[in-house]
Amino acid sequence: MVSLVTGSSKGIGLAIAKAFVARGMQVVLTARQDDELQKAAAALGGGANVHVVSADVRRAADAERIVAAAVARFGGLDVLVNNAGIGRFSNVSDLAIDEWQQVIETNLSGVFYCCRAALPEMKRRGGGYIVNISSLAGKNPFAGGAAYCASKAALNAFSEALMQEVRYDNIRVSYVLPGSVATGFGDRGRAGEADWKIAPEDVAEVVVDLVTLDSRSLASRVELRPSRPPRKG
Ligand SMILES: NC(=O)c1ccc[n+]([C@@H]2O[C@H](COP(=O)([O-])OP(=O)(O)OC[C@H]3O[C@@H](n4cnc5c(N)ncnc54)[C@H](OP(=O)(O)O)[C@@H]3O)[C@@H](O)[C@H]2O)c1
Repeated sequence: MVSLVTGSSKGIGLAIAKAFVARGMQVVLTARQDDELQKAAAALGGGANVHVVSADVRRAADAERIVAAAVARFGGLDVLVNNAGIGRFSNVSDLAIDEWQQVIETNLSGVFYCCRAALPEMKRRGGGYIVNISSLAGKNPFAGGAAYCASKAALNAFSEALMQEVRYDNIRVSYVLPGSVATGFGDRGRAGEADWKIAPEDVAEVVVDLVTLDSRSLASRVELRPSRPPRKG
């Protein structure tokens, strides 16, 4: 199986790429910073099943280019994981217009561009799988998270609509809503917090379970939360 994981130089995306490689899948890694991608490829053993392409999912032409790279290198595309995402956290009155645009363009438009580029290739292969990494923030909005929560809520709706559109093309679509994951996301991590958070490897395990589930079934929405977060109050 040929897979493309966006935002796979670190965090959840890298853990998903590692899990795919461990199962013998071919993986295209992509993120904006090439040096970080090279480090990630080295961490995966740099084998023939790994191909890196630096790209910015906010650009439709880059989305086309990474899908074309998967096809050129591995002959097609079976699994797309839309994982690249950013968080900018401010009250609406303090949020810069540029921050709003970056969040929406990365977390929502980037997913649309990558799906749009990947679907013809999946149809050509007779099917495929798309996993969108959303967030519990998309169903539980909080103050200071308007841009991020809105981007993920919209991603949930996008994923549901796409799932219904392409199921008869044998393309399954799932979206995963993790709670707090122990990564450097949003630079919000504080020392000592990581022990209660979800590990990136746990999200990766869920994604592997989704794409390897028998094709007769589709777990379309998965909520994944820390089992014992700190009590409030
Ligand atoms: N960590 C959490 O608590 C948490 C919880 C729920 C959901 N999530 C979601 O999980 C996903 C991954 O989060 P993470 O915690 O693993 O984040 P992370 O550690 O900050 O990694 C983000 C990855 O995305 C890439 N990226 C960012 N903007 C990009 C762009 N425009 N084009 C291409 N690649 C881009 C980054 O590389 P470059 O900077 O080099 O591009 C990096 O590889 C996100 O969608 C996030 O919203 C995270």
